[in-house]
Amino acid sequence: MSFLVIGASGLVGYEFYRQKKKEKEWHFTYNTNKMDANGFVHLDAENQTEIDTLFSKIKPDVAIFPAAMPNVNKCETEPEEAEKLNLGILKNVLEAMKKHGGRKIVFFSTDYLFDGKDGPYSEDAPVKPLNEYGRIKLKCEEAIKQSGLEYLIIRTTGIFGWEKNRKNFLYRVLDNLSQGKKLELPDDQYATPVYVKDLAAATLKLLELDKNGVYNVCGPDFLNRVELANLFADAFDLDKTLISGKKTSEFQNVAPRPLRCGLKIDKITALGIRMMRIKEALVDMKKNKEKDDAYPEPG
Ligand SMILES: NC(=O)c1ccc[n+]([C@@H]2O[C@H](COP(=O)([O-])OP(=O)(O)OC[C@H]3O[C@@H](n4cnc5c(N)ncnc54)[C@H](OP(=O)(O)O)[C@@H]3O)[C@@H](O)[C@H]2O)c1
Repeated sequence: MSFLVIGASGLVGYEFYRQKKKEKEWHFTYNTNKMDANGFVHLDAENQTEIDTLFSKIKPDVAIFPAAMPNVNKCETEPEEAEKLNLGILKNVLEAMKKHGGRKIVFFSTDYLFDGKDGPYSEDAPVKPLNEYGRIKLKCEEAIKQSGLEYLIIRTTGIFGWEKNRKNFLYRVLDNLSQGKKLELPDDQYATPVYVKDLAAATLKLLELDKNGVYNVCGPDFLNRVELANLFADAFDLDKTLISGKKTSEFQNVAPRPLRCGLKIDKITALGIRMMRIKEALVDMKKNKEKDDAYPEPG
């Protein structure tokens, strides 16, 4: 069986590389961030010819698709471009999967499908996105369900972990506090953050169990941004007195944000999948920094 991770130079995709790089039936793509390592190839999923060439060669049975333009504010200000860079590239890959005999697509969706009035949400809760990012993700989910392919839609939120591009929330906390800078954060935005290593491991377990459908995959802790930043500061011995909280409405927000969001994980828990508490994840991150926070350089 052949696996293709499209967007393996990003936060989520790279974790599949960390965990599967030694297995020869696994293949990985980058687009603009070149990864010079065995198993990596270039793919711009806007380019149908390039997709066709790669799919004829690899013939993936399973396409794991973390590729996206996930910037929530950019989605709000440039919704047409954002739809092209999220839904457009997904549709190209769905077409190629059908054309080249692919079986299953794995897609990463979000708790921003919900309005944040009464989270955390289960898989069957009614959706009501407040922003363009959420609306586009919903269209992506619909396109997958209509594709006729088998699918895993993994809904997740607040992913943190070692990352080459240093763009997840953890880095904002570490970078500000280590430079002695004050950090003001919303204290009314709740979610269920997840460690990237655990997110990929749970996804792989769902694949191994040959599951289909929508699955929430996130951590068991339900907390707000200030509480999360405090856990990060504690773990890395940083000055948490620099962190303060205020209401989301007091920030200048480009995109509306759901407040009580996050996802329930009863469905994966019933399958025996256990997700780490944040404190456990941070212990793991510190222990494995040297091994995990290392990346193939552009050649
Ligand atoms: N991060 C979160 O907290 C979070 C929460 C909920 C859901 N999600 C979802 O999880 C998924 C992964 O997020 P992430 O944080 O890992 O994103 P990311 O770090 O921004 O990575 C995105 C990946 O997509 C690739 N990509 C973008 N446009 C492409 C194109 N046209 N063709 C081929 N590859 C392309 C990028 O390649 P290059 O960098 O090489 O150009 C990169 O490898 C996304 O669907 C996101 O919406 C994320």
